[in-house]
Amino acid sequence: MLEFKENIDNVEEFNYLYDAVGWGSYDKEISSKALKNNIYSVSLYDNNQIVGYGRIIGDGYIFLYIQDIMVSPEHQGKHIGTEIMNKLLDKIEEIKKENPDILVYLGASLGKEKFYEKFGFIKREDYGLGPGMILKG
Ligand SMILES: CC(C)(COP(=O)(O)OP(=O)(O)OC[C@H]1O[C@@H](n2cnc3c(N)ncnc32)[C@H](O)[C@@H]1OP(=O)(O)O)[C@@H](O)C(=O)NCCC(=O)NCCS
Repeated sequence: MLEFKENIDNVEEFNYLYDAVGWGSYDKEISSKALKNNIYSVSLYDNNQIVGYGRIIGDGYIFLYIQDIMVSPEHQGKHIGTEIMNKLLDKIEEIKKENPDILVYLGASLGKEKFYEKFGFIKREDYGLGPGMILKG
């Protein structure tokens, strides 16, 4: 049975999914500190086993970022990612009551743009804006 929970932010589950989708995993203490700064998150369980996760980070008033949408490989393609996105977007609608102009960003992994386009996200360049950039590590 699939079950959604809000704001659980269990570090072991987060790192497990990070690893399962091939992103490696962060130091437990780093993940733990990072997740404490979430604005909102959803965790999805199949018979109490974590199978999906997504979170919103940001300042809560001017910028929000959708981050770390992860569905374990054996559960992908079953619209779980869609369910996670819909929950996050519902929360964003709530947050928007305070500032309807709040900007919602995300950084799509290569090849994942089409998934996000289904929810109304567009590439910055299609909006006449420059590319998103990150600091080279
Ligand atoms: C990307 C991801 C979150 C999608 O979750 P999912 O549960 O497999 O996706 P869904 O079943 O909800 O798919 C919803 C729709 O998006 C489409 N879609 C999903 N992944 C896609 C992709 N990589 N490219 C194009 N379309 C994709 C599906 O075909 C589906 O289309 P439909 O509604 O017409 O049937 C999941 O595959 C995942 O966790 N991948 C590894 C981690 C990752 O890359 N996360 C994204 C970080 S930016």
